Amino acid sequence: MTDILQQLEDKRAAARLGGGQKRIDTQHAKGKLTARERIDVLLDEGSFEEWDTFVEHRCQDFGMNKNTIPGDGVVTGHGTVNGRLVFVYSQDFTVFGGSLSETNAEKICKIMDQAIKVRAPLIGINDSGGARIQEGVASLGGYAEIFQRNVLASGVIPQLSLIMGPCAGGAVYSPAITDFIFMVRDTSYMFVTGPSVVKTVTHEEVTAEELGGAHTHATKSGVSDGSFENDIEILMMSRTFIDLLPSNNTSGAPSRPFDDPADRTDYSLDTLIPENPNVSYDMYEVINKIVDEQHFFEIKPDYAKNIIIGLGRIEGDVVGIVANQPKVLAGCLDINASVKAARFIRFCDAFSIPILTFVDVPGFMPGTDQEFGGIIKHGAKLLYAYAECTVPKVTIITRKAYGGAYDVMASKHLRGDVNFSWPSAEIAVMGPKGAVEIIFREDARDPEKLEKRTEEYREKFANPFIAGSRGFIDDVIFPHSTRHRVARSLNMLKTKKLENPWRKHGNVPL
Ligand code: HXC
Repeated sequence: MTDILQQLEDKRAAARLGGGQKRIDTQHAKGKLTARERIDVLLDEGSFEEWDTFVEHRCQDFGMNKNTIPGDGVVTGHGTVNGRLVFVYSQDFTVFGGSLSETNAEKICKIMDQAIKVRAPLIGINDSGGARIQEGVASLGGYAEIFQRNVLASGVIPQLSLIMGPCAGGAVYSPAITDFIFMVRDTSYMFVTGPSVVKTVTHEEVTAEELGGAHTHATKSGVSDGSFENDIEILMMSRTFIDLLPSNNTSGAPSRPFDDPADRTDYSLDTLIPENPNVSYDMYEVINKIVDEQHFFEIKPDYAKNIIIGLGRIEGDVVGIVANQPKVLAGCLDINASVKAARFIRFCDAFSIPILTFVDVPGFMPGTDQEFGGIIKHGAKLLYAYAECTVPKVTIITRKAYGGAYDVMASKHLRGDVNFSWPSAEIAVMGPKGAVEIIFREDARDPEKLEKRTEEYREKFANPFIAGSRGFIDDVIFPHSTRHRVARSLNMLKTKKLENPWRKHGNVPL
């Protein structure tokens, strides 16, 4: 018996060593943790239950029959994050470059299936050279099996991808389907085709970092939802993020004790909006002053900064926040902002997270870039997302709500449950200046007359009371009381029931 126990211990030790100490040292030298070390940081201490430790590949070609490593390049299993169950796979770059073999894919699929069965989140830690080159099509099949499960799990359990090394070729499409992608700066990259192929095909010279590093995907492509300094930071922040996510689409997000009275007033909000409507202010100030303990987990902070999205809590309950940012492009909705917010709203809706919207939007962004790029279709995604979602929706118009953008931003007409405005709100077809230039064209050349007309228009329409008189706004509130009014509204909405007509699925303008 002792022999067998010793054998088991030896086998486990061999598996723990992955591709060997030399490769572990190389991994460390790059500033990266190993697959197992990452799991240790991500999960609660001692909670990891590893599966398939002894799985080996079946490849017989290219000398692979003499080269097997227990675990075959991916560590899989389940554990807890602050006591809540999650499933995890962590690609082990020290074993065949973390490449995906047939058996390696089977291991990942096994825990994906289990995560779906027990309805717990899935976290994939990606650090891989892609398809196991020695295996060819068997590996490709493995990828497709994973993609299929990513799609079936979508909207059922939250899926989070952490990119902590290479993620290239078709391999990128598994993270792409998941709900959120976080990346590590300098040591991770994602691209469909790498720099050498790019050079051959398009003659562009580009480094891996420029093409698909964390900065690129956080600022240019919008593929990533957050970038972090190093392995420890991404893993610790993922723990914080998971605390905000529901386990599945029926559980609701976990509530948490809070130390911030719901009726807390903040008088600085009463003077936040500048007198001059063309002067900006910082929407983060509004968000931070309203959520519990100023804690706001922002998603895609560096992409399409004209809209802000993220998760916070009000009275301990998670809310998804969507807010125009007047400091960037005056808060206009453009293609990137629309897509950014639309996907987030659909995430919140799928997982029963109420949506709190702050509106200060002068309209959709004009220009050939936007029109040629399809702002019509992309703007419609945001409209569709707001109109389709059935979770509680509370909307605060802080200043401008003009034109189509007024309609889109969780207006009453798109089944907004509670629509408040601040007294500084301007709800109209368009801004006073633009409006006057069209309807009083004959006065346009006389600045004095134009100014007078603009003032007349502003007084008549650029306020919340006309919308209020029609019931499009439920109340005009004091800015300092916003947190209290939002908290009461969300409480009232806790038992909200709303269903869309049955359909196989809608046809989102993709
Ligand atoms: C098998 C691989 C591998 C792979 C790396 N290795 N990638 N083994 N299949 N795909 C092995 C290496 O042979 C090496 O083994 C070890 O992993 C570490 O690799 P290095 O090259 O030494 O590391 P580094 O210099 O850091 O470079 C990392 C890398 C490079 C940039 C990822 O390894 C690389 O270019 N790999 C090939 C990438 C690729 O073309 N993959 C296929 C893409 S197509 P030893 O024994 O020396 O430690 C694809 C299709 C997916 O993925 C389609 C899905 C639908």
